[in-house]
Amino acid sequence: MKHLFTGFIAAAALATGVQAQQNIVVGHALSPASHYGVGAQAFIDTLNELSDGAFTGEQAPAGQLGGERDMIEGLQIGSLDLVVTSTGPLGNFVPEVFALDLPFLFRDYDHARTVLDGEIGQELLDKIGENNLVGLAWSENGFRHVTNSQRPVRTPEDLAGLKLRTMENRVHMTAFSGMGASPTPMAFPELFTAMQQGVVDGQENPVTVITAAKFWEVQDYVSLTGHVYSPAVVLASPILFDSLSDEEKGWFMEAAKASAAATRAEVNRLEEAGVALLIENGMEVITDIDKAPFAALAEASYSVYTDQYGTEMVDRIKAVE
Ligand code: PAF
Repeated sequence: MKHLFTGFIAAAALATGVQAQQNIVVGHALSPASHYGVGAQAFIDTLNELSDGAFTGEQAPAGQLGGERDMIEGLQIGSLDLVVTSTGPLGNFVPEVFALDLPFLFRDYDHARTVLDGEIGQELLDKIGENNLVGLAWSENGFRHVTNSQRPVRTPEDLAGLKLRTMENRVHMTAFSGMGASPTPMAFPELFTAMQQGVVDGQENPVTVITAAKFWEVQDYVSLTGHVYSPAVVLASPILFDSLSDEEKGWFMEAAKASAAATRAEVNRLEEAGVALLIENGMEVITDIDKAPFAALAEASYSVYTDQYGTEMVDRIKAVE
């Protein structure tokens, strides 16, 4: 409805020779200063510049518009224009994307970024496009690590019985059951209070998020498990995107690329500086972790994807240098 109305205003403006301005709302789960906030702002600034001011933008940060699942639904019904989101809930809409959520699949940041910027990344953006969403560009959340309030986690045995919040993602939940924890899926906006009130003992997220959300206020231990790479993606509402001219679509795609680049640069910076910040704020950071036993136990989660799609995509991802 909103886009029908703005379309009408744009047509009227064209008829009178006055340039109409369209304001784009970019939703995300974190603070404006976070890696997502930096990326959202880069999108807004780039789009504004490319369109010579025809498009303006504003952030709806910190889950103001709900959790990531709610925001994705908002794109589908056109109540929201754009979202920077992790792939956490995306597999519920586009199951092929579960391939990217498999634990211990990506070797490092270079591997993940090469896959997402290449043929495989484009194929998955196209799949997103077949599911009433528009995938503009792969962005980044980072490698996820376990935090908790109970004890240092060094081995899978240390996870036993820990109530651990996971994203609403079947691959992650199966992986954590396999590794011995009790996974509790929950939307991110509920997480801080859940940890504060002891509803869950811990959670898992990249250093980028642990620092942005100041989890040191409710968590004592961080284990650098790096158990899964967490991609993010810049998604647009198909209702908005289909209302754009080809030239405007090009601006949106370019702005999404600028957003991803800015977010990745911030991830790089926080991967360097973030751990010191966690220590400074009183967290015990556990680095001497043998990942092999975690990986062996998490392997069962691959079947969430491979039972439906086979192993081809997994093999292709592993083969990317
Ligand atoms: O844990 C999550 O839900 C995600 O990593 C977050 C923090 C919303 C960022 O995408």
